[in-house]
Amino acid sequence: MLKSCGRKLLLSLVGSMFTCLLVLMVEPPGRPGLARGEAGGAQRALQSLGAAAAVAPPAAQGPPGLRSFADYFGRLSRARRELPPAPPSPPRPPAEDISPRDVFIAVKTTKKFHKARLELLLDTWISRNRDMTFIFTDGEDEELKKQARNVINTNCSAAHSRQALSCKMAVEYDKFIESGRKWFCHVDDDNYVNVRMLVKLLSSYPHTQDIYIGKPSLDRPIQATERISENKMHPVHFWFATGGAGFCISRGLGAHIPWALGGHFMSTAEKIRLPDDCTIGYIIESVLGVKLIRSNLFHSHLENLHQVPKSEIHKQVTLSYGMFENKRNSIHMKGAFSVEEDPSRFRSVHCLLYPDTPWCPTNMVY
Ligand SMILES: *[C@@H]1O[C@H](CO)[C@@H](O)[C@H](O)[C@H]1NC(C)=O
Repeated sequence: MLKSCGRKLLLSLVGSMFTCLLVLMVEPPGRPGLARGEAGGAQRALQSLGAAAAVAPPAAQGPPGLRSFADYFGRLSRARRELPPAPPSPPRPPAEDISPRDVFIAVKTTKKFHKARLELLLDTWISRNRDMTFIFTDGEDEELKKQARNVINTNCSAAHSRQALSCKMAVEYDKFIESGRKWFCHVDDDNYVNVRMLVKLLSSYPHTQDIYIGKPSLDRPIQATERISENKMHPVHFWFATGGAGFCISRGLGAHIPWALGGHFMSTAEKIRLPDDCTIGYIIESVLGVKLIRSNLFHSHLENLHQVPKSEIHKQVTLSYGMFENKRNSIHMKGAFSVEEDPSRFRSVHCLLYPDTPWCPTNMVY
């Protein structure tokens, strides 16, 4: 089981890495044909696969004197490479007193999963945190609107395509900016969020500083080649937090993102052809020069969830569940419900964290 699990995991990681490699062939504006014509064989193949598009000039609010995003990315990356690597950070004391009301949690879903996935979340962690949770979906659902306080129909396509995902991320981001809250966190509809731990983690950083925190899906940064001019390539390395484990961005950092994007997440995601979470990592690390703070408290279904220690479950910020070749991947815990009753283990986790929940068995001993 572990072996097949591992293989699948590896495949999906290689898949996501490959996407990132393909996409970073950023070309200067106005000469896509020429650049393609001069490219070597392997690179040409990569480019036609990735169909790397020409990069448009930055919008009016961009820095003056830069002709293109590529130019802009290039300067920022070069400047940043001269900086020494950051030392590991010691355990942090609280930096700020924040409440759940200060956090905007975007849950990304699709109409197909309103029943199959969202109901579980509405019954468990969302039920305790209705005001901070915003559900981003792609179809009208009157039933869902009755159950949840904030449901946003993004009007994005329901396809699991890069375009549809970037479209949702762009709407999430706009709603966060509108909300005026201090922190933006993105999770998927297969994540359990332990809001107490999330708030505790975020309160150890000032929201006015540039903070990007989450779990990378690889144990090393993405390596890619960025084209800065016709025959000038340079390597870029960046970490990105996997969207499937959830990640958070401070308002201080969030405020810079529209500037970096020329105001349009979607068109940037299209132009550099990265999947949504990878785009965020690229913009934050490579463009803005802000380092991802890697946290092991976030978990996606792309990791072996059996490895989360039983005694540490209550300290995790996010959890997940999933299937690999018809085998279950979920956290291991003896809890209020059997694996048959509660395959995701989310109901058992919820009873562990909130034993006063009416549907939790009383007198549970863990
Ligand atoms: C989606 O479309 C509806 C109906 O046209 C509109 O009311 C709503 O504001 C749209 N949502 C977004 C996020 O633009």
